[in-house]
Amino acid sequence: MKKLTFALASLLLAVGATASTDNNEELAKRIAPVGQIYVAGEQADVAAEASGPRSGEDVYKGACIACHGTGALDAPKPGADSWKPRIAQGFDVMLKHSIEGFNNMPAMGTCATCSEDEIAAAIRFMIDGV
Ligand code: HEC
Repeated sequence: MKKLTFALASLLLAVGATASTDNNEELAKRIAPVGQIYVAGEQADVAAEASGPRSGEDVYKGACIACHGTGALDAPKPGADSWKPRIAQGFDVMLKHSIEGFNNMPAMGTCATCSEDEIAAAIRFMIDGV
């Protein structure tokens, strides 16, 4: 009987030990700083998501404002009526002109690091409410 009791006690201890190891791992996961539970590749994705595309307003303030903010070289100002005939020709034409350049409007509006989506967002910001 003593042997059986010992065996049962060992078994219970073993089960208990396993369970507590699992709990420790769970706990470690829960209290780990977010970055540590990602492998290197996943971390890069997280960083890209965190910065994300710039807003139209940010792009405008960073690049377009130099001309469109002041009307330099007859660049249409945000919200101005002079956007109306440009809007009438279609958004795709305005986007193409912004990407490739158009008269005194430089290609990509001088924003070398902008994506086409960010340029489109900046256009939408400038024509908002026109
Ligand atoms: C160096 C000055 C300058 C900068 C910087 C600039 N633009 Fe322009 N932009 C112009 C001028 C000038 C025009 C008018 C061109 C014309 O109609 O002959 C223009 C016109 C436009 C048009 C109208 C195109 C059309 O089809 O009528 C869009 C859209 C535009 N700009 C977007 C942008 C965006 C977006 C940025 C910033 C990422 C930007 N521009 C930065 C000078 C500038």
